[in-house]
Amino acid sequence: QWVAVLSGGLSHERDVSLRSGRRLSTALRSVGLTVEEWDADSSLLTRLREHRPDAVVVALHGGEGENGSIQTIFEMLRIPFVGADSHACRRAWDKPTAKAELARAGLATPDWVVLPHSTFRELGAAPVLDAMVDRLGLPLMLKPDQGGSALGAHVVHDASELPAAMVGCLAYSETVLAERFVAGTEVAVTVIDTDGGPTALPAVEIVPERGVYDYTARYTAGLTDFHTPARLDERATAAVADLAVAAHKLLGLRDVSRTDAVVTPDGTAHFLEVNLSPGLTETSLLPMAIEASGQSLGEIYAALIDRAVA
Ligand code: DAL
Ligand code: MG
Repeated sequence: QWVAVLSGGLSHERDVSLRSGRRLSTALRSVGLTVEEWDADSSLLTRLREHRPDAVVVALHGGEGENGSIQTIFEMLRIPFVGADSHACRRAWDKPTAKAELARAGLATPDWVVLPHSTFRELGAAPVLDAMVDRLGLPLMLKPDQGGSALGAHVVHDASELPAAMVGCLAYSETVLAERFVAGTEVAVTVIDTDGGPTALPAVEIVPERGVYDYTARYTAGLTDFHTPARLDERATAAVADLAVAAHKLLGLRDVSRTDAVVTPDGTAHFLEVNLSPGLTETSLLPMAIEASGQSLGEIYAALIDRAVA
């Protein structure tokens, strides 16, 4: 039996993915698996058809790795893979769709507005931005509706920063997700499917040195402090774990997901987004959660591969 670990790809998170793929491949070899590391380039389809791995693990981030595209290919070729199916990926990858699904189920998520680029052309930028600030207040968050690693995301404190932030966001996506800024403890909760059902690992608390967990703070060692388990009381700890498991189930996810959330001082866990192919780099959150749970990255992913092949 052998597995292909897919990394690289065409998205803005290519470099992150190469780092994730490298670490995962090493971890899987350390538990005895035979692994080939594949860059998801133009030869991918041919390689999949000709070599037919027993299973594929997607360490691709962003775009085609998480939006269901690559998953559709595995489904068509009937090659087992770790992670959510194409349908679930398509829904969960779109941040407004995921938020709406959780809100419908009564879970907390910061109030939001979706702004397609065409809105600005049709209505003019000033009235749209005014209405957005009226609705959400300041500070607020702007994010590309799809994407990862905080690329294109901005915290806007003053209305004067809005036009530049909006342009920065639209550079990554045709549609902007604007969210009310919710202040609190920032946490990430990994959920792993086991024979006993989806299980939350210890929450990782994120404390960026410069206050904002942007791309640099994510991937430069030493720029962010992490606390695992998060410094939350028992009730808030349970609330974030429940939120992450609920997101995993409601969105029909499989094998592994990581929910990012903010816990307000009243103990409420607010859903921000779910990650379908969580980062596995040296500074990424999922490996920290696995380590805190007393397991190893290799063991956990080997078990997921077994589930995928079974
Ligand atoms: N999008 C990055 C890889 C993460 O969520 O970890
Ligand atoms: Mg993300």
